[in-house]
Amino acid sequence: MQILKQIPDFHKSLADWYQANHRPLPWRTHPSLYRTVVSELMLQQTQIKTMLPYFERWMERFPDFQALADAPTNAVLKHWEGLGYYSRARNLHKLAKAILQLPSKPATPKEWQALPGIGPYTAAAITSIAQDYPAAVIDGNVVRILARLTNDTRTFKNNGAAVKAFTPLAAEVLNKQTPGDHNQAMMELGATLCTKQKPNCPACPVRSFCATKDTDPLHTISIPRIERTAIHKIAIERALVNKEDKILLHRIADDAPQLAGQYELPTVQALGLKIPDAQPLAVKKRGITNKRITETIYQITPPINFKKPQAHEWIQVQKIDSLTLSGPHRRWLNEMLKTVEIS
Ligand code: ADE
Repeated sequence: MQILKQIPDFHKSLADWYQANHRPLPWRTHPSLYRTVVSELMLQQTQIKTMLPYFERWMERFPDFQALADAPTNAVLKHWEGLGYYSRARNLHKLAKAILQLPSKPATPKEWQALPGIGPYTAAAITSIAQDYPAAVIDGNVVRILARLTNDTRTFKNNGAAVKAFTPLAAEVLNKQTPGDHNQAMMELGATLCTKQKPNCPACPVRSFCATKDTDPLHTISIPRIERTAIHKIAIERALVNKEDKILLHRIADDAPQLAGQYELPTVQALGLKIPDAQPLAVKKRGITNKRITETIYQITPPINFKKPQAHEWIQVQKIDSLTLSGPHRRWLNEMLKTVEIS
């Protein structure tokens, strides 16, 4: 492989480009172990643009591991609201408590992986960025860069298989003198230039090392090839039901595997109501991993003898602000409450 014969030159080109071009993200301009940990957990399923305001608010409210460990769960979840995948927030909370119990901070990927919410990717990111440990980070961006650099046209069953296949190469290519900057440079390159859809090859600092530049200079062939997983379509009908100044919300059980204790608009089915003939208030589409979910929300006036089912609560509209709502439900509610009369 051409690149393996030119590793020092590759390191220099990548490092010079990163020094001159990286985005001044808050965990880069004011680095600390805690800020790195929080940023990496927030970035597990969320784009930088979305998470930045959350990161700043989080740091104001929970400036260090101690402040986070001391905070009540409700406050932690509230500061995560809107980012989704709340298990990350719960894990971060548990992690802060666990770290304070240890005689010293974990220092290797293996030690970090023993903590809640930390997998191989996050452990490599934290140890390399905040502790100078020579671990290579491999995410979708890094896989794409490595596949293009080596013109690897193999087909992989899924993302996990591709990550596994490129792990040895990522470790070989890692700059062990500056592992944190190297990993962040690879991620930055994938996010800003070596993008999936529209790679900006003329601006690429490592183009001269790229095996694809001659075979497929415009990256019209998509590599790595990942087999598509089946897409499941799901339809959910939800109800906006009000009684005087209250709205009926479903509280997700405390022992639910996901979204425990959070509130959401109830489903028409759970309320035992019929889907009305009237136009819905809103139709919302979203994708979560391989699911394409269409949620149709109706305003429903329940029959006189309606009794709310278990796990559903009448909540005063003014009190909704103080609850933790699941996923996009606050946004949906706010939108609908503008158009609906609640008296
Ligand atoms: N994605 C996850 N961690 C990141 C980081 N430190 N920089 C850029 N993108 C990232």
